[in-house]
Amino acid sequence: MTLVINKITAHIGARVSGVDVSEALDAETVNQLRQALNQHKALVFDAPELDSAGQERFAANFGDLTTAHPTVPGQNRANVLEVDAENGKANEWHTDVTFVVNPPAISTLRSIVIPSYGGETLIASSAAAYRSLPEQLRRWADSLWAIHTNIYDYVKVRSDKEEQYRTVFQSTQYETRHPVVRVHPETGEKGLFIGSFVKQIEGLSKTESKDVLRLFQAYVTKPEHILRWSWQPGQLLVFDNRITQHYAIDNYDDQPRKLSRVTVAGDIPVSVNGERSEALLGDASHYSPLESANAA
Ligand code: SIN
Repeated sequence: MTLVINKITAHIGARVSGVDVSEALDAETVNQLRQALNQHKALVFDAPELDSAGQERFAANFGDLTTAHPTVPGQNRANVLEVDAENGKANEWHTDVTFVVNPPAISTLRSIVIPSYGGETLIASSAAAYRSLPEQLRRWADSLWAIHTNIYDYVKVRSDKEEQYRTVFQSTQYETRHPVVRVHPETGEKGLFIGSFVKQIEGLSKTESKDVLRLFQAYVTKPEHILRWSWQPGQLLVFDNRITQHYAIDNYDDQPRKLSRVTVAGDIPVSVNGERSEALLGDASHYSPLESANAA
């Protein structure tokens, strides 16, 4: 079979066919997929035969896997996080797990139960966002650092189940210092590395930090920088967590929605000046091995 890659939008997203992601892949196919991910940042596959074990096997083509989450255990498999609307809805712009020092490089989401309407996932290119900043703002962003944490204000908690999930999510406190602009370790592209786990930009007051983040975030969430993926059950969305943000739209009332997430361990982010992120609080070595981070 020949790999077919069809671009979905100018800045982000491609549909991939001609490959069965539930089967073992050869090195050449993995290499082509890696290149496609570097270029398009988010890839979508039809994967009707894929199960949790197959999702882990597919993701492991791209590197060591993380465990399910630093604080939330996998329910059935150690590397699989169940993304279930019953536990809460991820309708906040974020990059996965940026509160640890080496957040996942790649996230994979597999659709299991999809509501009859709504429930799309938005994925934004933070590289397109960075490129679209006015030059003065880009230079300022290059010099900024931010503290990310898993302890943040939840807008609303709708049920006891959500409350329990939140308690587990926050059971260990993490804080990490990351550059606001991260250089992609494979492509050298620069992207805004922010999102809802940011507690504060260093050197600014809380109010200034909020306003500045709102300004930068407006470039991330510009409609032109976003892929809006409307799910069917049995699909796989793979995105580069180093240079994207995502948001699960809460527009499906109380219908069930279930996905499963498997993530590939990432490197320690590097700023435009070559400085690396630092862990300030919490040990995430059980979640994502540091030995393979920045191995190059
Ligand atoms: C996530 O934030 O990892 C889940 C996104 C989604 O539910 O669409």
